[in-house]
Amino acid sequence: MEELITRIQIDGQVLDEGVLKVDSFLTHQVDPQLMAKIGETFATAFKEQGITKVVTIEASGIAPAIFAAQSLRVPMIFARKSKSLTMNEELLSASVHSFTKQVTSQVSISRKFLTSQDKVLIIDDFLANGQAAKGLVELCQQAGSQVCGIGIVIEKSFQEGRQLLEELNLSVLSLARVATLSEGDVTFLKEESQ
Ligand code: G4P
Ligand code: NA
Ligand code: NA
Repeated sequence: MEELITRIQIDGQVLDEGVLKVDSFLTHQVDPQLMAKIGETFATAFKEQGITKVVTIEASGIAPAIFAAQSLRVPMIFARKSKSLTMNEELLSASVHSFTKQVTSQVSISRKFLTSQDKVLIIDDFLANGQAAKGLVELCQQAGSQVCGIGIVIEKSFQEGRQLLEELNLSVLSLARVATLSEGDVTFLKEESQ
């Protein structure tokens, strides 16, 4: 997605250890116009799949996911990283290991929001090692829902996440595919056809 790539080139900051900071439009401050276009792009790509729910994980997945859900005219569900006070129903739950943070945490969704009738589009802001996305796939599987695809805003193609998801036979669409991150410079893989 050309506009996203341009925005990363202008506003993205490369931190050491292969981390891309995009807090001015995606992970902290959010640009709603750009998010709307991102959501529309995902919706267009997956519109023939009969998607009934969009699923993401808090916090930074929520912005792109809500716009994708709006474009598809379906609900958006975000998996929670900690149990909320009112989350007293039966839960779907999976553990997610973050290599970056070296911690394993539980993510969960109330069982009542996902059923065996659902066809799910998973959305996330970043794909790095793929553990968050894999956890979301597991939540869908526990519910008997079908995962129809995974939409990623920024894929770090030098990490193993994409390969992991493809090995699970999942179809992944990444709007920007980062090939390398070096001092102040981001290079991209050729854009995927949609
Ligand atoms: P994985 O799910 O792909 O295995 O990711 P990993 O454990 O490596 O990443 C943990 C967190 O860091 C995730 O957010 C992920 O979205 C984010 N992340 C990974 N690489 C980058 C990067 O290069 N830049 C930025 N800005 N974020 C990155 P989180 O902390 O779990 O969630 P959130 O609450 O911030 O959304
Ligand atoms: Na994040
Ligand atoms: Na995320």
